[in-house]
Amino acid sequence: MTHTSAKLDFKTQILKGIPLELPPSRKPSTGVNRAPKRKDILSREEKILAVRNALRYFPKEWHNELSREFAGELDEFGRIYMYRFKPDYEMYARPIDEYPAKTSAAAAIMLMIQNNLDPAVAQHPEELITYGGNGAVFQNWAQYLLTMKYLAEMSDEQTLHMYSGHPMGLFPSSENAPRVIVTNGMMIPNYSSQDDWERFNALGVTQYGQMTAGSYMYIGPQGIVHGTAITVMNAFRKVLPSGEAPKGKVFLTAGMGGMSGAQPKAGNIAGCITVCAEVNAQAAKKRYEQQWVDELIYSMDQLVERTKAAIADEEVISLGYVGNIVEVWEQFYEEGVFVCLGSDQTSLHNPWAGGYYPAGLSFEEANEMMAHNPDGFREKVQESLRRQVTAINKHAARGTYFFDYGNAFLLESSRAGADIMAENGKDFRYPSYVQDILGPMCFDYGFGPFRWVCTSGDPGDLKKTDAIALNVMQRIMNAAPSEIQQQMQDNIKWITDAEDNRLVVGSQARILYADAEGRMEIAEAFNKAIRDGQISAPVVLGRDHHDVSGTDSPFRETSNIYDGSQFTADMAIHNVIGDSFRGASWVSIHNGGGVGWGEVINGGFGMVLDGTEKASRDLKNMLFYDVNNGIARRGWARNKEAIFAIKREMERSPELKVTMPEIVDDEILNKLFNGTD
Ligand SMILES: NC(=O)c1ccc[n+]([C@@H]2O[C@H](COP(=O)([O-])OP(=O)(O)OC[C@H]3O[C@@H](n4cnc5c(N)ncnc54)[C@H](O)[C@@H]3O)[C@@H](O)[C@H]2O)c1
Repeated sequence: MTHTSAKLDFKTQILKGIPLELPPSRKPSTGVNRAPKRKDILSREEKILAVRNALRYFPKEWHNELSREFAGELDEFGRIYMYRFKPDYEMYARPIDEYPAKTSAAAAIMLMIQNNLDPAVAQHPEELITYGGNGAVFQNWAQYLLTMKYLAEMSDEQTLHMYSGHPMGLFPSSENAPRVIVTNGMMIPNYSSQDDWERFNALGVTQYGQMTAGSYMYIGPQGIVHGTAITVMNAFRKVLPSGEAPKGKVFLTAGMGGMSGAQPKAGNIAGCITVCAEVNAQAAKKRYEQQWVDELIYSMDQLVERTKAAIADEEVISLGYVGNIVEVWEQFYEEGVFVCLGSDQTSLHNPWAGGYYPAGLSFEEANEMMAHNPDGFREKVQESLRRQVTAINKHAARGTYFFDYGNAFLLESSRAGADIMAENGKDFRYPSYVQDILGPMCFDYGFGPFRWVCTSGDPGDLKKTDAIALNVMQRIMNAAPSEIQQQMQDNIKWITDAEDNRLVVGSQARILYADAEGRMEIAEAFNKAIRDGQISAPVVLGRDHHDVSGTDSPFRETSNIYDGSQFTADMAIHNVIGDSFRGASWVSIHNGGGVGWGEVINGGFGMVLDGTEKASRDLKNMLFYDVNNGIARRGWARNKEAIFAIKREMERSPELKVTMPEIVDDEILNKLFNGTD
């Protein structure tokens, strides 16, 4: 067997796809955060099928050698990642003109893919996981190599179809079609249990794309800092007497991983004391080195002492505790540390495979147990959740406002038998952040996590886009109705401070909550600035799936829908189809993301602005639908803020005609089905 060692330049390697000669075997890099060993779920026949599936990517003469290696990976890691095929060039978002491509959209997508796999950005870069423990860009390195080659070769008259990381191929289409269509984890509904994911992912036929991992739209923790800052700020507004600032007040939470790592920074922006527990010392250290958390503390006694001092001095500070959150809730109760706001962002959408580390086990012991004694581990997780909820309930009795932060904490705690249900036995004791805060204050008005990436990679371009966006927001705010003045003010403050907050990790990206009008006007101003040469290269527009219209998720994004339709997924499906023929450069639709496999359907888009007239037409057409689809649905569910927003939009846009609900009086309904009428 011949092994090549000659180094090829970046462009040549991309164009080669799967190399012509078998590269030398390699072990995954040490010193990077690695995915935990996955559950050993396949039978011997299924393991053989998994290896047979993996070998489809390679020529016959390699099969003997690779079969043994892939079987070894399956035994050792529970998945076949094909580590040997990980390219040896550096993985990061290069300036767009460094990509070999025939279309700017394809080059931009390559840039976005590499950003999602950049070790400074991705949670488990060796295993192609961007965030959330299992949020995959691809299932294995062969898929990455093939996809990049297809993108490099494709024209504006072709579309690449991605099946859960697998590039099915380039199909003829048209200039107006998306360049890439992504589906992740789309299952026949009855095959969407957690173990189904374990089995079918191990077989190599599906993956968990989270939201922005499998759709190439992740921009590091900045993406969530803004949403978290808005949530924490508004939660404090809800609980503190009007006009009182959060300084000196404690926000206690957990997780400093991919998304959760944003919490300490968001707490600083909101102006409180954040105490954030993280069991994985490596993850905590990464956030500390990136200056996303101010101090790291390794002992409980020190944490209590430091927190008390911060309260006494009314500090604005973020304290990272390297240890288990359950112990912090318990100890703070014993020590009388008052927690004003409480939440949790461990990865409870993935409770049995490393998303939640139970109290009473060290990090290493937990990793060992989840791989070798999954049933025992499950019990430990559930016991720990019951303990955590008991401690939270005691704090709540003292006045803590606890909210679920979209990680399935309430759901999994209820499944664990924790004392988490409200008196009616139907609802949870605590709200989800969407029910109380983000839903009525943002999504129903159309405000959501709009974002953009400057493909030049030049911080100067990002600075210009910040200034353009600020200008547009200020102009819109002058004419905005009182209902959305607070949101406009928060967003203007955010974009004004964005550069100083040093939010960029990876690509030159920015997030800014905006409504339909804001998104369209900002995008149009960017397109014009590209045309005029003020911005030096195309700008990619996108958003988190966690938005007004993109996601149907009954315990999160659509938890403030109360007409029963929160268990349907029509909105997310309409959104992705609607965006795809209105000019998106790529679209994606996923099962799972945030709250877990089978619990949510979510979709997103990417749109490349290149300064052309076509981009100007497309952006208006697509962004308008992308936001107003969800407002229309939220309005039909009788949400009053959404009814206000969609009526306002219909006044502005005569082509828009939305079916509006009639509101029935309770008095009429109360007379029904009680045998008195
Ligand atoms: N609300 C939102 O807007 C939003 C957005 C994105 C993600 N989420 C959800 O938040 C969760 C976290 O996302 P992520 O990307 O940060 O995941 P992640 O897996 O990267 O991070 C979670 C972190 O929690 C730590 N952890 C687990 N159990 C712990 C414990 N008992 N004590 C202390 N630390 C513990 C893990 O070590 C890990 O680093 C996910 O469920 C995700 O779906 C919510």
